[in-house]
Amino acid sequence: MAQISLSILSGDFSKLGEQVVSICAAGADLVHLDVMDGHFVPEITFGSAVSNSLIGKTDKPFDVHLMVETPDKFIAGFVNNQTKYIVVHQEACIHLDRTLNFIKSFGVKCGVAINPATIPETLDYVLDIADQILVMSVNPGYGGQKFIPSALEKIDWLVSARDAGRLSFKIAIDGGVNEENLAQVISAGTDIVVIGSAICKAQNPVESVENFRRIADANAR
Ligand code: DX5
Ligand code: ZN
Repeated sequence: MAQISLSILSGDFSKLGEQVVSICAAGADLVHLDVMDGHFVPEITFGSAVSNSLIGKTDKPFDVHLMVETPDKFIAGFVNNQTKYIVVHQEACIHLDRTLNFIKSFGVKCGVAINPATIPETLDYVLDIADQILVMSVNPGYGGQKFIPSALEKIDWLVSARDAGRLSFKIAIDGGVNEENLAQVISAGTDIVVIGSAICKAQNPVESVENFRRIADANAR
C-alpha cells in the first residue's frame, strides 16, 4: 500500500500544528519536513525547532528531507523518537556512503534524493545501504511546481534495480504530485508519495487527503 507523506512546506505556518494533526488524522502516513538552507536550494525554510515542536502532536512519523549543502552537520538535530527517515541529497554529499551510515548509526532510516538532472545509476553503490530512494519530480526549493514526467523513468529503473538486487529500499517521489498524476505515479511502483500544495492549498485539505488516499489504494500494485 503506497504511503502519503504530507509536505508541510505549503502549509499555513501560523497554524502548522493544527493542519498537521487534522491532515494526518484524515489519511497522511508521514510528515514530510522540507529543510532548506538557502544554499543548496534558493529558499530557507526551518530547522529542528519546527520538527521538535511537532513531536507528539501527531503519531505519524517524520520524513525529513534535508535540502542543505552540508547535511552531516544537521543530521543529529533531527534525530528523535518520531523521525523515521532522514533523506539527504546525492548532489550535496561528498562522502554519501559515510553520510548514510552516519544516519543509520542513530537508529534512523536513511534516504537519498536525486534531482531531476541526476541519473539513478549514481546510486548503484548505496542501494544496499539506503532505506529510501527519493526521486525529485521537481527542481527542489519550492512547493507548487509542475511535475517532471521523466521522474517516472527513474521509478521504473529503481523497481528493476531493487528486484534484481533483492533489495528492500522504499521508492519515493516528491514534487508536483496531484489528483491527475497520482494513479500513474502509484502504478509505476512508488511506495511513498510526497504531496504538498495539492493537499495544503486545497479548498478542504482533509477531504483532499481522503481523496488521495482513495486514489492511492485503488491503484496499489
Ligand atoms: C520541494 C520539496 C517538496 C515540495 C512538494 O523542494 O522537496 O517536498 O514541498 O510540494 P508540492 O507537492 O507542492 O510540489
Ligand atoms: Zn521534499
